[in-house]
Amino acid sequence: MSRILITSALPYINGVKHLGNLAGSMLPADVYARFQRARGVDVLYICATDEHGTPAELAAAAADQDVFAYCEEQHRLQHDIGRRFGLSWDWFGRSSSPQNARLTQHFAEVLEDQGLIEERTDKLVYSLEDRRFLPDRYIEGTCPICGYEKARGDQCDNCNSLLDPIDLKNPYSVISGSRDLEVRETRHLYLLQSKLQGRIRSWVDSRAEFSALARSIANKHLDEGLIDRGITRDLAWGVPVMRGGQPRTGFETKVFYVWFDAPIEYIAATEEWADASASGADWRSWWRLDQGADDVRYVEFMGKDNVAFHTVSFPATILGSGEPWKTVDLLKAFNWLNWYGGKFSTSQGRGVFMDSALDILPPDCWRWYLTANSPEHSDSAFTWEQLTAAVNRDLADVLGNFVNRILKFCEARFGGVIPEGGEARPLELALYESVSARVADLTQQFEAIEVRKSAQALRGLWVLGNEYLQEAAPWTAIKTDPERAAVIVRTAINLVGLYARLSAPVIPFAAEAMAYAVGEAWPPTWPGVDAALELSRLPAGGRVTVPPVLFKKIEEVDLVAWTERFGGAD
Ligand code: 2FM
Ligand code: ZN
Repeated sequence: MSRILITSALPYINGVKHLGNLAGSMLPADVYARFQRARGVDVLYICATDEHGTPAELAAAAADQDVFAYCEEQHRLQHDIGRRFGLSWDWFGRSSSPQNARLTQHFAEVLEDQGLIEERTDKLVYSLEDRRFLPDRYIEGTCPICGYEKARGDQCDNCNSLLDPIDLKNPYSVISGSRDLEVRETRHLYLLQSKLQGRIRSWVDSRAEFSALARSIANKHLDEGLIDRGITRDLAWGVPVMRGGQPRTGFETKVFYVWFDAPIEYIAATEEWADASASGADWRSWWRLDQGADDVRYVEFMGKDNVAFHTVSFPATILGSGEPWKTVDLLKAFNWLNWYGGKFSTSQGRGVFMDSALDILPPDCWRWYLTANSPEHSDSAFTWEQLTAAVNRDLADVLGNFVNRILKFCEARFGGVIPEGGEARPLELALYESVSARVADLTQQFEAIEVRKSAQALRGLWVLGNEYLQEAAPWTAIKTDPERAAVIVRTAINLVGLYARLSAPVIPFAAEAMAYAVGEAWPPTWPGVDAALELSRLPAGGRVTVPPVLFKKIEEVDLVAWTERFGGAD
C-alpha cells in the first residue's frame, strides 16, 4: 500500500481561525486526505497548533491569562472546531509538546555540529518603558520596503516581506505603545543560511511537483540571496536553548524563534501521534529515509505567506542537519480569500471565523463553498451572494433535490425497496458512458489537487443525475411500464450511492447521510471508472430511507441577519 504524509500549515494559537485559514490549508488538505484514504492509500494527516512566540504571549496577555493556560484552552477550542468541520486529522498536536522541544534542540545541535550555527551579537530594539527587548511582533512601525504603516517586526502583511525589527521606520512598542526605544546589544544564535544557498536551490529544482506559486516564491528568495537568520529570541515562552542537555550559557533567558520550532512540529506531532497510539505506530517510518520513509509521498498545504518558510527556512534546517529526513514532495500553496475589499484578518477581527461560521450554516455548506471558490490560482473574494448560490443552487437544488426526489419516489411507489426487473436501455448506457468519463476526470482532478476543478467535476456529476431523472421520468413510466420504472429507480438510487462516495471528500456529513439512506458502505471506497459496474452495486431488494433534508436553503432573512452580524453588505 502506498503512503502519503499530509500536513497543513499549523494554525497559530492566538484565537479561532477565520475562513481564509480554513480555505487555504486545512480544508484542501482534508479533502485530499479523505480522497486518498478512499483510494486505499495509507494516509497520515498531521496538524497542530503553533503555540510559541510573541503572538501567543500577546494574545494571552490580552485575554488576561497565563500563557500555558491560554494555549491549553485555545488548543482545545481549535481542535474541537476542526472536528466539527470534519477535519479528519490523524493527529492534532501542539508545538509546545516535549517532543517538539527535544527535536528542536536536537536540530540546533546537529546544525551547530555541521558548522551552520554561530553565536552573534545582535542589536535589538529595547523598550525603556517596558524594560525588555521587543522581538518580532512586539514592535510595529512603517515597512521600509512598501511604506505600510502597521508592519510587524518580523513581517509586513502588506508586501509580505520578511523584516528585521530594527529596520522598521517610526517603531513603537506593541505592549505599551511607547516610542521610548533604544538599540541594545544581545547575543543570539544564527542559522547560516547563506552557506546553504546552493543546496537549497538544487533541492527546490529537484521538486518537480511544486505548484507554480510555491516555486516562484522560493526562487524569488533564492535569487535575492539567502541571508543568515537569528533563530533565538529574548522571550520566556518557547523552546529553551540547550546544549548537551544543559541550558546554553548566556541563553538562559532566551528561547528558539517560533519559526524555527514550528515546522519541526510537523515531525514532532507525528511523534506525539505515535506516542499516543496503542498499536506501536512508528513515527520515524514516516520521516526518516533510513528508517522506511523512502516510499512516503509528502504533501504540504499552506497559504502563500508561509511558502518562504517552507521552501527556504525549514529546508535549511532539514538539509543542513545532514541527517536523512524526508522533505516535501508537493507543496500546494494558496492565495488569499478576500473579505469585502480587504483581507480576512485575525488581528483585526475582520471576516467570518470558524466558530461563528458553524453557528449559521452546517460544515458541509462551508466546505463546498470554500472548495468550489477556492483561492487557488488567484485571490478569491468571499461574498454572501456566492455563498448563497453555492448552497441553494449546487447543494440544495441540484444534489439535495435529486436525492430527495428519487428516494421519496422509491418510498411511495416501491415501499422503500430497491425494485427488481427490467434492463438497461440506451438512456442508461449513455449515462454509464458520461458517468465513466466524469469519474475519470474527477479522480484526476482530486489526484492533481486541482481544487476548483474537482468541485466543477463533482457538480457536473450531480447535474447528470438530474438530467437523467428528468429524461427517464419514472413518474410517467410507472403508469405504463413498471419494469421500466424499476430500472430507472434502481439506477438513480445507485447514483445516490455513487454520489455519496464521490462527494465524501468535500461534504463528508451529507455524504454519510446519503450512504446510510441507500445502504452504501461507510467509510467510503473510491469507485473505478466502470460506471455500469459501479451503478449496479446496490442490488434489488435493498432497503432505502428518505434522509432528513440534506441542505436547507439560505433565505433572504438569513442574509439580512448575517450581513448585519458580520458586515460585508456590498
Ligand atoms: O502562518 C501561520 O499561521 C503559522 N502559524 C504557520 C506555521 S506552519 C509550520 F511551519 F508550522
Ligand atoms: Zn511592506
